Amino acid sequence: MKICCIGAGYVGGPTMAVIADRCPDVTVNVVDMNQSRVDAWNSDLLPIYEPGLDAVVKRARGRNLFFTCDIDLQIEQADIIFVSVNTPTKTYGIGAGFAADLSFVELCARRIAQAARGNKTVVEKSTLPVRTAESLRRVLHANSNGYRFEVLSNPEFLAEGTAITDLERPDRVLIGGDDTPTGRTALQSLVDLYARWVPRERILTTNVWSSELSKLFSNAMLAQRVSSVNALSALCEATGADVDEVANAAGSDSRIGPKFLKASVGFGGSCFQKDILNLVYLCEHYGLREPAEYWRQVVAMNDWQKSRFVKHMVDTMFNTVSGKRIAILGFAFKKDTNDTRASAAIDVCSGLLAENAELLIVDPKVPAETMWSDLERATGKSRDVLASRVHCEPDVYQATRGAHAIAVMTEWTQFKTLEFQRIYDQMQKPAFVFDGRGILPHAALTAIGFEVYALGKPAPALAQ
Ligand code: UDX
Ligand code: UDX
Repeated sequence: MKICCIGAGYVGGPTMAVIADRCPDVTVNVVDMNQSRVDAWNSDLLPIYEPGLDAVVKRARGRNLFFTCDIDLQIEQADIIFVSVNTPTKTYGIGAGFAADLSFVELCARRIAQAARGNKTVVEKSTLPVRTAESLRRVLHANSNGYRFEVLSNPEFLAEGTAITDLERPDRVLIGGDDTPTGRTALQSLVDLYARWVPRERILTTNVWSSELSKLFSNAMLAQRVSSVNALSALCEATGADVDEVANAAGSDSRIGPKFLKASVGFGGSCFQKDILNLVYLCEHYGLREPAEYWRQVVAMNDWQKSRFVKHMVDTMFNTVSGKRIAILGFAFKKDTNDTRASAAIDVCSGLLAENAELLIVDPKVPAETMWSDLERATGKSRDVLASRVHCEPDVYQATRGAHAIAVMTEWTQFKTLEFQRIYDQMQKPAFVFDGRGILPHAALTAIGFEVYALGKPAPALAQ
């Protein structure tokens, strides 16, 4: 069997690497239009950071896993074609700011139809609005040259930072297909592929639209939990309750469960906001105003949490951060990834820059280039203009020298065990800490002399 995956990104790359690793007799070709991305996949420095990914790629690459730009040839030879290109939120025209931009997906469909020399199973892996499979199918059929295309939906549930374990031991694999003889055959071939390493009872099969909607709904539910606990964090600060204690008490109820109840400066990543906005757009499309509003509020809450954090920093630092040096610890949207898409750090940094602060940004895996382009996009200012007030630092101790404050944006494990006394000694006084992830040892920091603000925790004045 031969598989082709279009799109060598955070989803396509790790997913195909695990399939190739688990199925040595299946040839997996990952194609991408971006030559430098392909080159990076073929090098020792992979384009994405993900724990465990290097080892999986090393085992399979060159054996039955290949990365190439030769899109047409690989389409022609493949039995199954995964479409894993990005589907960003539209920035123009109808549905701008909410609907998904499907132009990459449509281009893929046209390219598949054009290059195919036989029947193919096309699997949508990208997160797509409900009924996209239908559009895919129509484009494929309208250009089919007489070949048959079966369209399946197989949404990816991996979370970045834990992608390899999520793929190797998934809670579930979801495959949507048509209830027709050819649809059932295509669906079965994909079930059989996953069944080589995933227990059969964890492979769920549904119709195509249920599968598409399940992905949006799963992400919306997860994001809603984070927004719920973040809403609670504000109330905890106002009342003197402790958000971790409340989350622990509520999460001990098995109907609620302990996961995804960690208060933060805001959720980020390529999926949550995009998928919820997609859901909002979908509801509105069907004239469902209240459900649209309901989901929109999850995103509104997230935006509020980020701006509340910035406001709190400014208020605490005597109502001005102008000219003050602030060390930003972490820029990725979560730990164990180099991905910064929709990271809360971007909005917090641009909020602080609007207040004329000077930022010293450190992240163990995010390249300075990425920080620059994210901040250019968020602030609308050029790198030259930003350069006087933004410094991307490789080292935490360098970044905190002479700083007025530290703000933790990402929960990187190494931030928990820094030499805090050393950092305190070289900072301006009072030395402020704003812990947007609730990971630092707050009591120890207070004992050293820091003024600590932690989300959802009693304010310092209330602390014992
Ligand atoms: C993306 C979406 O964010 C996610 O919602 C969806 O489920 C899958 O696609 P990700 O893999 O993280 O996830 O995106 P990204 O890392 O941007 O990778 C997409 C890749 O597709 C890029 O490398 C891009 O160069 C490639 N691509 C895009 C093509 O090869 N052809 C195209 O026409 C468009
Ligand atoms: C998510 C889904 O988890 C995954 O199943 C889906 O396929 C893709 O989208 P991902 O975006 O990679 O995965 O990361 P996730 O672990 O879900 O975290 C999303 C954001 O929520 C991060 O910014 C994270 O820091 C934040 N978060 C998560 C919290 O703030 N608190 C929590 O308790 C959990």
